This record gives sequence, structure tokens and C-alpha cells, in this order.
Amino acid sequence: MQTVLVTGGAGFIGSHTVVELAEAGYRPVIIDNFSNSKYSVIEALQKLLRQTVTYYEQDYQDTDKLRSVIAKEQVDSIVHFAAFKSVGESVKKPLQYYSNNVSGLVELFRFLDSVSIKNFVFSSSCTVYGEPDKLPVIESSPMKPATSPYGRTKQMGEIIVEDATRVSPALRSVSLRYFNPIGAHPSALIGELPIGTPNNLVPFLTQTAAGWHKELIVHGDDYPTPDGSAIRDYIHVVDLAKAHVKAIEYLKNKKARFYNEINVGTGEGHSVLDVIHTFENVTGIQVPYKIGPRREGDLVSTYASTNNANAILDWRAEKTLDDALEDAWRWQQTLHQ
Ligand code: UD1
Repeated sequence: MQTVLVTGGAGFIGSHTVVELAEAGYRPVIIDNFSNSKYSVIEALQKLLRQTVTYYEQDYQDTDKLRSVIAKEQVDSIVHFAAFKSVGESVKKPLQYYSNNVSGLVELFRFLDSVSIKNFVFSSSCTVYGEPDKLPVIESSPMKPATSPYGRTKQMGEIIVEDATRVSPALRSVSLRYFNPIGAHPSALIGELPIGTPNNLVPFLTQTAAGWHKELIVHGDDYPTPDGSAIRDYIHVVDLAKAHVKAIEYLKNKKARFYNEINVGTGEGHSVLDVIHTFENVTGIQVPYKIGPRREGDLVSTYASTNNANAILDWRAEKTLDDALEDAWRWQQTLHQ
């Protein structure tokens, strides 16, 4: 059985990927420092998968420990999620972001060639495109200035992964550029666990529906879009997790030094108001909201071209926005304030 090391495997996308890897016959091994995740996720994963999940509480930047985990567990692939991910926080604490997301990645690649790793999947983001000129966004679109230090760490991360892979004797890598991951596992055993007040739309929306906040503020209704609110490509986290399994399958057939970047989205754009009204339709709950000013640094509109994901990875999103919002709500109802 092939072993996949999942850094940040107790996080939102990481935990869902652990499930999909295990269900596809891989043996996932988690390392997580639990700085932005909870131990209860490991128990939930074990319940969901009905098996023991191997995990190590450690920082991915501790390369000595990481080296021994890779040797002990005979790891041959890494899916690398461990990173800071808050856009707003990255503006206030840029050096923490460059240190964890960029320097840590450099140090990781410094020793990958001396261990058994062959396949590397990097957790990237559509934020690398900045404001796109053309929609849907294709992978060959230029990287325009990112709107935050977080976005710049993803741009730099991709460059590091590509350059290091191109000179590696054994490695093959892919960067997956996620659009907006939302939803939760349909079992409601795992989902998103924002620490503090969420900045992202869907967790704030479900918390508002649960009465945790007085109202949701729609950040701008004067964008050049059909209803004036901003447009994103919201992808169910379970579909996104499945794309990582496909990415490993894809890399296995490639030669050393191979590198590519692939969008992971649904190919459909939905406005903020669409999301609110869809949530209201699927749950029957009215969400108090009001229109506020635009949020600084926000893009107007972005959604993925999924041609490469379809053709190259043999992957496409199977779940709808309705499914994602229904699952997000089911998960929200398991949470306490
Ligand atoms: C941001 C990051 C993205 C990152 C993602 C994490 C950028 C440009 N985007 O995406 O890289 O992967 O977070 O999920 O760096 N909104 C409201 N009211 C709210 C919250 C959000 O109207 O209370 C609106 C936003 O203005 C935006 C949309 O909802 O138009 C989605 O926002 P959000 O969920 O925060 O994601 P992004 O900003 O698109």
C-alpha cells in the first residue's frame, strides 16, 4: 500500500483529503502542529474511516523529525497543505507568512532528494492570478501582482516547487490552484473549523444562520456583475480533496523533473447574493444580511477553466453549490459557539 504524507492533514482541506486518500486505497500519514486545527479532527477521521489514522504532532519545518517520519513510514508522496492561510493576517504579519509558507518550503525541498519522495502535490490558490483579464481563468494566464502577502507566498511557493523539481533526480510535482473551497464532509464528522470570527463567506454565512452573528455584510453590490456582488468559483471540499488523489495518480505516470499547475474549480461563477439565496433555498432559513462597502483587495470576478483538470487529471467537480451549502449547514449544526 502506498503511503502519502499529508502535512497539515488535520486542517480543512487536509482532513478531507485524508479521507479520500484512504478510500482510494492509500495509507495517509498526517503531520500537523495543530496551530490552526484541533485534535478532535483525528478522532473524527478515525470514526469516519473506521480505522486508525497515523499522525504525528510536529511542525513540517522540523526537518530532522520529518526525515525520520518519512523513513519510518516509508512515504513516497507528499501532499503539502501546512501553511498559514489568512489573507488579512498576512497583511499584518507578513514575515510569519514568508517564514512558514516560503522559507519552510525551501528547507523541505533541500532534503527531499535525499529521501524516498517521488511525488509532491502543492496546495496553491487562484490568488496567484491576481485580478484575471479573461474568464474563465486558464493556467497559462500570467501571474499578476497578488493582493496580499499570503497570495505572494503562494506565487513564490509555486516557483520554488517548480525550480526545485526541475533539477531533482526523482521528483515529480504539481501545484493545484484551488478556487474557493466550501462545504463539509456529508457525514458532518469533519468540516471547516475557523478560529475566531471567520473572514470567508460561507463559514460566516452558516454562523449567521445559526444566530452567532447579527447579520452578514455583503462586501459591495456595485461591481460590474449581473447583481452587483462579486463572483467566485465555489468548490465542494470533497471534490477538491478527490483532485489530490487524481494528482498523485497523474504524477505516478510522469518522469522525474516533471512539473505542472492545474486549476481546481467547478468552472462556474456564483455571486455573493447567489450564495446567500441558494443557502436560503436549500435550508429554508432566512439569513439577515445588509449591503456594505467593498472589501479592500477583493477581486471582482474569478472562476476556473477546468479543461486541464478534466483532460489531464480526469477529474471534474461532481457536487453542486446546493450540495456544498447543505453540507456546510449540516456541519455548522454540530458546532457550538
Ligand atoms: C480568499 C483568498 C483566497 C483564499 C480564500 C480562502 C484572495 C484574493 N483570496 O478568497 O486566495 O484561498 O480566501 O478560502 O487572496 N464576502 C462577503 N461578506 C463576508 C465574507 C465574504 O460579502 O462576510 C464576499 C467577499 O467580498 C468575496 C466573496 O464573499 O467577494 C468570497 O470571499 P471569501 O470567502 O473571503 O474568499 P475570497 O476572498 O474569494
